[in-house]
Amino acid sequence: MKRRRERVLSGMQPSGILHLGNWLGALDNWKQLQEKYESYFCVADWHALSTNYADTSRIRENIRDMLINWIAAGLDPQKCTIFIQSRVPAHAILHLLLSMIVPIPWLERNPTYKEQQQEMANRDLATYGFLGYPVLQSADILIYQADYVPVGVDQLPHIELTREIARRFNGLYSPVFPEPEGLLTRVPKLPGTDGRKMSKSYNNAIYLSDDEPVVREKIRTMLTDPARKRRKDPGNPDVCPVFDFHKIFSGQESIDRVNRECRTAEIGCIDCKKLMADALVPRLEPIWDTRRSLLRDSGRVEEVVEEGTAKARKAAEETLGQVKEAMKI
Ligand code: TRP
Ligand code: SF4
Repeated sequence: MKRRRERVLSGMQPSGILHLGNWLGALDNWKQLQEKYESYFCVADWHALSTNYADTSRIRENIRDMLINWIAAGLDPQKCTIFIQSRVPAHAILHLLLSMIVPIPWLERNPTYKEQQQEMANRDLATYGFLGYPVLQSADILIYQADYVPVGVDQLPHIELTREIARRFNGLYSPVFPEPEGLLTRVPKLPGTDGRKMSKSYNNAIYLSDDEPVVREKIRTMLTDPARKRRKDPGNPDVCPVFDFHKIFSGQESIDRVNRECRTAEIGCIDCKKLMADALVPRLEPIWDTRRSLLRDSGRVEEVVEEGTAKARKAAEETLGQVKEAMKI
C-alpha cells in the first residue's frame, strides 16, 4: 500500500473570513507541508451545511474568499491540490458506504458533538447530517488514503474516529485504508487585540483582508498591560498581548529591547506598538499583494480550483474503485 510520497490531507469550513490566528494556526503550517508531502487541501462546504443549512446565502462568497486567502497565504497550486469538497462526488459516496459500518454510539460519544450542540443551542442540530459530520470528515481523509492530517487539538477526536473507521473497514473487507495520523500544529500564542483568544465573535481579530491602515489602527488601540496606566509607569510584557505579537513577528533584538525597556518604562506603549506593527506589516505585504492580484483577476481562482478538483477527483476515484472492489459492490 506504500506510495512514492506520503499524503497529507486537511480541510477547512468556508464559514467566514480568515484572521491571523487561522493563518498561523493552519495555513502557515500547510504551506510548509506542501513542500514535503503530496498535499490535498479541501474546502469543506458540505461540512459548513451541517451547522448552517438554514442559511446558505453566503456560502459561495465565503468559499471564494477562503480560496483567495489560501493562495495568498502561500498555498501553491503547483505544489498542492486545492479543491472544493462538493465538486468531488466520491467523498459523498464513501461517506454513504462508511455510514453503513459506523456504530451510532461511536458518533454520540464524540465530545465535540454534544459541545457544539450546546454552544449553538439556537440552531436545531439534532440532524442526521450533524451526527454524521465526523463520518464525512473521515471520508474526506480516507478517500485520499491520507497518511497525515494536520489539525488543531480540537480535531483530534475526529482523527481518532477516522482511524477506528479505517480499522473496521480493513477488518470487515480488505486493507484499503492506511490509519491516518493527526499532525498537531504547533501554534504560537497569538491572542486577539483585547488579550482574549482571537475570534471573530469577540470582535478582537485582525483579518488577512484588513489593509495596512486598518491593521495599524487595530494595533494602535490594542490592550496592553492594564497596570501600566501612565507613560512613566513600568510595565510587565509578560501580561501584555502586544508582547505576544512581538514574540511572533519581531526580531530577537526588538523582543529583547521591549522585554527590558517596558519594565523600566524606557519605552512607551505607543512606540512599542509601532515597532510591532512595523514588523508585522512586511509579513502581511506579500499576502496583501497576492490578494489584490487575485481580486483583480477573477478567473484565476476558478482556474486553480478547477485544476485542483480534477486532480482530487482522479485520486478519489482510484480509492473508490478499491473500496467497491473490497466491498464487492
Ligand atoms: N472539521 C474540520 C474543522 O472544522 C474541517 C474539516 C473537514 C477537515 N474535513 C476535514 C479537517 C478533513 C481535516 C481533515 O476544522
Ligand atoms: Fe505592552 Fe509594549 Fe506597553 Fe510593555 S511597552 S505594556 S509590552 S505595549
